[in-house]
Amino acid sequence: MTQQFTIVLLPGDGIGPEVVSATRQVLEELAPAYELSLEFETHLMGGCAIDATGQPLPPETLAACQTADAVLLGAVGGPKWSDPSAKVRPEQGLLAIRKGLGLYANLRPVKIFPQLVDASSLKAAVLTGVDMLVVRELTGGIYFGRREEGDEAAFDTMSYTRAEIERVVRVAARAARSRRGKLVSVDKANVLGVSRLWRRVTMALMASEFPDVAIEHQLVDAMAMHLMRRPADFDVIVSGNLFGDILTDEAAMLAGSMGMLPSASLGDSSLGLYEPIHGSAPDIAGQGIANPLATILSAAMLLRHSLGQEAAAQAIEIAVERALAAGYRTPDLAATTPSGPAFEVVGTEAMAEIVRGYLRPTPS
Ligand code: IPM
Ligand code: MG
Repeated sequence: MTQQFTIVLLPGDGIGPEVVSATRQVLEELAPAYELSLEFETHLMGGCAIDATGQPLPPETLAACQTADAVLLGAVGGPKWSDPSAKVRPEQGLLAIRKGLGLYANLRPVKIFPQLVDASSLKAAVLTGVDMLVVRELTGGIYFGRREEGDEAAFDTMSYTRAEIERVVRVAARAARSRRGKLVSVDKANVLGVSRLWRRVTMALMASEFPDVAIEHQLVDAMAMHLMRRPADFDVIVSGNLFGDILTDEAAMLAGSMGMLPSASLGDSSLGLYEPIHGSAPDIAGQGIANPLATILSAAMLLRHSLGQEAAAQAIEIAVERALAAGYRTPDLAATTPSGPAFEVVGTEAMAEIVRGYLRPTPS
């Protein structure tokens, strides 16, 4: 029986519309084979929403997301809206949608496609076997604390409650249980009170609910170092909002290009927000050369976590691997790939079409 789902598309700014449209075509290609009827609704968010309505997250957009099954976001922001004295900024829309939908757990998997090992600035030997999941707390911490901003002084506060820590650590520990059974919790407990609470709560929770998952605690500065030196040792990493923001950009570099990494933001229901971890890349917007694979892989996470379609999710992931194995590269990946007859540089639409081709049943 056909299952029906509504997906809200928020293309946003810069390359966002290009990568979201490419990804929609991939989802449309795949839907019939899995008996999915997908209805897409496009809404404004980010700089384009500021231009049209004065607000980065118009109430209609939030309302549409609240009743959807899942949300797929491109990217927001750009030089046009980045004046530091501006009252409204595209990024505020992103924070408001995360908070408004209660999406407290941000999943950022970092896996190295063997075909792209040379695209990273790290040695191939360090990268072999890298397969980690970073779970970043997304609706608390210093991003949402009490703040004041004056001309002579300003402050932001980092606070967490026991309940906020427990719910995100549970998400991470469950993920670890279904993977290699190892969790690293990242904090700054040698300096910050909020981190000492984070560590105490995590230790107690792990001992009572997840005795089968190995837990290790790392200070964030040391963790930044370990991620470069021995990335393959890590399975699941959990951290607060700011530390997770920083560590995930660092971890992204292991994979060579920001253009490869997907993310999922989840809460207590099945509704989730899915987005590539890269930004709006205004320098290449409108040229049709952006790498759509991070958004396409985000759609795989959407199928898995919000629609319960594990087989369809895997079909997309396999199709992406096959496209890379066949030698197709967008320019961001091609720069570090040896040139030659084995590689072909393609644009956004062509890459999506190649992925779609690998989703079609091969004629017998
Ligand atoms: C991210 C981004 C955002 C964040 C910005 C754009 C507000 O860096 O999703 O990692 O800091 O959360
Ligand atoms: Mg970030």
